[in-house]
Amino acid sequence: MDYKRMPIEVESPEMIGYSNIPFNLAESSVTDLRFKDLDLNLDDLVIAYTDHFGKPELRALLAEEHKNIAASEVLLTPSAATALFMIHTTLLNVDSHLIVVKPNYGTNIETPKAIGCAVDYVDLKFEDGYCIDVEDVKQKIKPTTRLISITSPHNPTGTIVPEETIQALIALAEERGCYLLIDETYKFLQLTENTIPDYVSRSKQVISVCSFSKAFGLPGIRLGWLITKDAALYHQLLAAKEQIIIANSVVDEEIAFQFYKHKNAFLLATMEQVNANFKTLQTFMAEHPILEWVEPNGGVVCFPRVKANLRFDTEKFYHRLLAEYATFVGAGHWFDESDRSFRLGFGYLSTQDFKEALVRLNSCLEDAIVNA
Ligand SMILES: Cc1ncc(COP(=O)(O)O)c(C=O)c1O
Repeated sequence: MDYKRMPIEVESPEMIGYSNIPFNLAESSVTDLRFKDLDLNLDDLVIAYTDHFGKPELRALLAEEHKNIAASEVLLTPSAATALFMIHTTLLNVDSHLIVVKPNYGTNIETPKAIGCAVDYVDLKFEDGYCIDVEDVKQKIKPTTRLISITSPHNPTGTIVPEETIQALIALAEERGCYLLIDETYKFLQLTENTIPDYVSRSKQVISVCSFSKAFGLPGIRLGWLITKDAALYHQLLAAKEQIIIANSVVDEEIAFQFYKHKNAFLLATMEQVNANFKTLQTFMAEHPILEWVEPNGGVVCFPRVKANLRFDTEKFYHRLLAEYATFVGAGHWFDESDRSFRLGFGYLSTQDFKEALVRLNSCLEDAIVNA
């Protein structure tokens, strides 16, 4: 494996230091919770190795979110990132082929590249509303294709892949005998009334990945899960997990379990802040003189860009945004895109700080315009 550090990790807020970024618009999660918010009781927890599948009671709760999923089809993983690593290393090798949407969360592209498999990208374009072109996927599919990989709600654009597109991709995966990975790490964060359908129940070819990080404000416990109805694949993924870590941290699983029993109350409070910030952002973006966007409908990030007709000094913008405005966004190159686009998160800051962050962002954008 030829590992390379990704810019999104090298330049991440946690590497800069959260205390050095008062107005953090780069974050892709909701506000991090504190231990005391959770009202935990861990006194009797035995710090032992735990069930390799993951805590049975928690797997049962996660399975209940679906119509037709058993706890035995849910595997708890030490983060979504690790679940993705396990899936990629299980399904891909130098002789296999992957089709993956781009831009994307870095690991979905970098791990396959490190494995050395053949990769074809399905480019998501601003002009198409970042929609997946199913015909493009069909044309790229080969006899060696083992995996089609999509993310919904999507990072960094916040778009939800439409139902009919996913249905068409499931049909394609079934017809061609490959798997469809749906990275659903932002699943519980929906900005519209429509709930995200339960895709993994529909086919043995679908693998779903989700996490406690983004919607629940618990990225520090490093816990996620994957679901597959393919029993043989499930056991191969379990073998991958056992070789990486044997079992999850029993502490992380217990925190997640005690949290999850009350998750709806937490989500209600979270979504109040997310929706308030989203409204502020919609007003900010409406007829913005410098930025344009594809409005997100899920998750807590979007990917605005500087209008094409404007001359813009990107270096000055990113440097001054942090150094002088104490504000931070996720640069386009984190996603192998132009730095005229950036990821802007609207779930992390309090409503008041978010408004202030947008004022600062706006001033810095104005400063970076190059007048002819
Ligand atoms: C789409 C996507 N998948 C997975 C992850 C990793 O999540 P976790 O913190 O659970 O490893 C991220 C983190 O940014 C992400 O954006």
